[in-house]
Amino acid sequence: MRTILVSTLFAVFASVKGTNFAYEDEVLTDADIGNFSAIAFGDVATAAPLEGCRASPGTAEWPLAREWAQLNSSLGGALIPAVPPASVCYDGPSKDQAACNILLFNATFNNYYINNPVNVFSEWPEGDTCHLRPASGENCTQGGFPTYVVNATSVKQIQMAVNFARNKNLRLVIKNTGHDLIGRSTGAGGLSIWTHWLKDFEFVPEYEVGEYSGAAARVGSGIESWEMFAHMTANNMTALVAGGYTVGAYGGWIQGGGHSALASKYGLGADQALSIQVVTADGRFVTADPTQNTDLFYALRGGGGGTYGVVTSLVIKTHPATTVLSSTIAYSVGGGFNVSVPGDLDKFWTGFDIYHAFGNKVVEQQGTACYVSRLTNTTYSFTTDIELPNVTEDFLAEFVRPFVEDLEAAGLNVTYDPPSPAGNWGAGAAGRGDTPGSTRFGSRLFPRENFADPGSELFNATQLAIRRSIEAGYTFHGIHMVPTEEVAGYPGNNAANPAFRETIMHADLFDFTVQRGLTPMAFTLAHDKLAAAMDGWRAVSPGAGAYFNEADLEEPNWQQAFFGTNYERLLDIKQERDPWGLFYAPVTVGSEEYTVVTEDGLPTQNGRLCRVGAEGQAKRR
Ligand SMILES: Cc1cc2nc3c(=O)[nH]c(=O)nc-3n(C[C@H](O)[C@H](O)[C@H](O)COP(=O)(O)OP(=O)(O)OC[C@H]3O[C@@H](n4cnc5c(N)ncnc54)[C@H](O)[C@@H]3O)c2cc1C
Ligand SMILES: *[C@@H]1O[C@H](CO)[C@@H](O)[C@H](O)[C@H]1NC(C)=O
Ligand SMILES: *[C@@H]1O[C@H](CO)[C@@H](O)[C@H](O)[C@H]1NC(C)=O
Ligand SMILES: *[C@@H]1O[C@H](CO)[C@@H](O)[C@H](O)[C@H]1NC(C)=O
Ligand SMILES: *[C@@H]1O[C@H](CO)[C@@H](O)[C@H](O)[C@H]1NC(C)=O
Ligand SMILES: *[C@@H]1O[C@H](CO)[C@@H](O)[C@H](O)[C@H]1NC(C)=O
Ligand SMILES: *[C@@H]1O[C@H](CO)[C@@H](O)[C@H](O)[C@H]1NC(C)=O
Ligand SMILES: *[C@@H]1O[C@H](CO)[C@@H](O)[C@H](O)[C@H]1NC(C)=O
Ligand SMILES: *[C@@H]1O[C@H](CO)[C@@H](O)[C@H](O)[C@H]1NC(C)=O
Ligand SMILES: *[C@@H]1O[C@H](CO)[C@@H](O)[C@H](O)[C@H]1NC(C)=O
Ligand SMILES: *[C@@H]1O[C@H](CO)[C@@H](O)[C@H](O)[C@H]1NC(C)=O
Ligand SMILES: *[C@@H]1O[C@H](CO)[C@@H](O)[C@H](O)[C@H]1NC(C)=O
Repeated sequence: MRTILVSTLFAVFASVKGTNFAYEDEVLTDADIGNFSAIAFGDVATAAPLEGCRASPGTAEWPLAREWAQLNSSLGGALIPAVPPASVCYDGPSKDQAACNILLFNATFNNYYINNPVNVFSEWPEGDTCHLRPASGENCTQGGFPTYVVNATSVKQIQMAVNFARNKNLRLVIKNTGHDLIGRSTGAGGLSIWTHWLKDFEFVPEYEVGEYSGAAARVGSGIESWEMFAHMTANNMTALVAGGYTVGAYGGWIQGGGHSALASKYGLGADQALSIQVVTADGRFVTADPTQNTDLFYALRGGGGGTYGVVTSLVIKTHPATTVLSSTIAYSVGGGFNVSVPGDLDKFWTGFDIYHAFGNKVVEQQGTACYVSRLTNTTYSFTTDIELPNVTEDFLAEFVRPFVEDLEAAGLNVTYDPPSPAGNWGAGAAGRGDTPGSTRFGSRLFPRENFADPGSELFNATQLAIRRSIEAGYTFHGIHMVPTEEVAGYPGNNAANPAFRETIMHADLFDFTVQRGLTPMAFTLAHDKLAAAMDGWRAVSPGAGAYFNEADLEEPNWQQAFFGTNYERLLDIKQERDPWGLFYAPVTVGSEEYTVVTEDGLPTQNGRLCRVGAEGQAKRR
């Protein structure tokens, strides 16, 4: 009797302690389920993979209108029909010119895109079916947008949505901000769980878990990066968030790795998590931390969003208040120079070598540097922001001086902006300004050894591979960082790509070809050309990897590239925790068992999700 009482009390205590916020106290009970078996919990012990294709609107398996209505009433009315945001601009039932004008002329200056339940920030993965900037003759169709959205404000609603999707063989989507660049937060025929409004925050000056004892913060998984700066100021601390202001700080960013201006000082976003609240595929709500559900705790820190469960909040480490200063340095040839004069081009690439040698010093100071090097037919230009944390303006000015002098000695006309607060660290544009695009790109986590010895064969080969890719017409963007396990500290042992621990630079190669309107053949050819340029990068960095969150959907051997030696363990955890294969997103752990069957054959989310081998069923109505 006593034992029962004590363990019951402990269970109550544990659940209170494990729960971060009020919205997490509202959980699904048997009484809530009642006779509505469609929202009943699942049992991993007796589970089997979801076979065939997921139910699709208009098919016999699709839930009946009264079932959707019952779900909606169980959800307290939080079920939203997923109307494509630009449908207000097209002929049809949603046409609304005033709303369209706001979209066309005002959306960039407010939070329109972010507060839309279905918008995603990269248009082509949805299938380009309802453009935000309509062209005449185009139509608006549902395409790769989901069918319904659950506007989640409680854990209970998330549990209901997970259970309903699993029991009804639906395609489940998790969307936070929709920043994912390759379609991981959208999907045709989907029931989408929208975590955007889970924005609670609490600073915890003394937090203890496992071997950690120190300052921390409880954060809702819907908080955007820019929103954290007010919390940092109010509590005189620093927490890691993305450099992109409207990127969700604690959804896809932290689960997929997460780099920031402080990566060389404190590690990745994934290294910050101390405890994670998550709804798993069976519909249960659990705590994953260094002492319980340690498999999930491992996987949710770097093993990829949208794969193991729906995260509702986390406890993250906080650090002493830290400033980040930046100095911008730029040069160009062409334009004012004559780019066909061979000497000027040589100077350009000499400057590029000087920079990559200097990068070793930047990361030694726990800094990051990012740059864009653009090629048009008449201009090559180079710009970098050298960013260092916790230094004075004088220190940074002195620090970059030898670099600037070396560039000038090489005959380059250098523009130098003196130190000022970093543009990607601070409250910035208050969440405004990020607009959807339609770019494709490849990326690579270049190992430190590639640049360790300037002038060496490996250094030269690496520089040449990058040069060739720029000469092929692409835009290069590299971010120096050294997010080692040493700077990350406790709890460590997470699923972040091991290539991050060896890297000095996360680099992207952008293809600004407008994907919209391309024939499937042209779309494929454009990618083949990009992939050929990327092959040059891969050839000089065999065995390295690429960053899961900023990657090519068609990265060759992606399991190795995004997860390295962690893949096998992650797949085991995925299969144990989600034997249904309920959580699907492209190129995530376990996703090779499923495929999206599109009419044009392109790798978009505009098609039915089917188990591999069952593609034939996709066409059956
Ligand atoms: C403009 C821009 C700037 C960027 N800047 C940076 C940067 O500075 N540093 C960096 O590291 N990355 C950056 N990224 C990439 C960014 O980290 C990824 O796009 C990231 O996945 C976004 O996460 P999200 O939750 O905001 O987006 P979403 O698209 O909503 O979600 C991304 C993925 O995570 C899943 N997911 C989201 N929330 C949850 C949850 N609560 N539980 C489980 N799964 C979830 C989704 O299903 C999806 O698979 C940038 C991207 C863009 C477009
Ligand atoms: C289910 O329960 C509700 C009350 O909670 C009741 O109104 C309804 O008739 C029941 N439906 C069935 C099919 O038993
Ligand atoms: C769900 O219910 C709410 C409130 O009753 C309603 O506004 C909404 O349109 C319903 N959703 C659907 C998909 O019918
Ligand atoms: C939209 O932008 C126009 C032009 O800049 C401005 O006049 C108008 O007030 C804006 N409307 C809203 C709703 O913000
Ligand atoms: C748009 O829809 C109309 C009417 O169904 C059709 O005639 C037209 O071909 C469509 N346009 C495109 C570009 O698909
Ligand atoms: C979603 O829920 C939030 C919080 O309750 C609310 O402010 C918002 O208007 C809702 N959005 C939609 C599109 O229903
Ligand atoms: C804020 O934190 C910094 C660094 O820990 C400390 O030096 C400073 O005194 C604090 N300021 C306030 C107002 O508490
Ligand atoms: C650029 O230099 C080349 C080679 O010296 C010369 O032929 C060409 O006319 C120059 N172009 C311009 C615009 O000055
Ligand atoms: C750049 O050069 C290429 C090949 O020489 C040519 O096809 C293209 O039109 C040029 N672009 C511009 C903007 O001049
Ligand atoms: C910042 O630098 C000062 C002086 O070197 C040092 O005392 C302090 O600990 C540093 N703060 C952080 C957050 O690294
Ligand atoms: C260097 O650049 C500045 C500003 O961009 C320009 O005014 C100046 O003429 C350039 N000097 C040379 C030698 O090209
Ligand atoms: C690397 O390139 C530099 C500059 O072009 C050159 O001086 C050096 O000899 C090259 N190194 C090797 C090993 O070829």
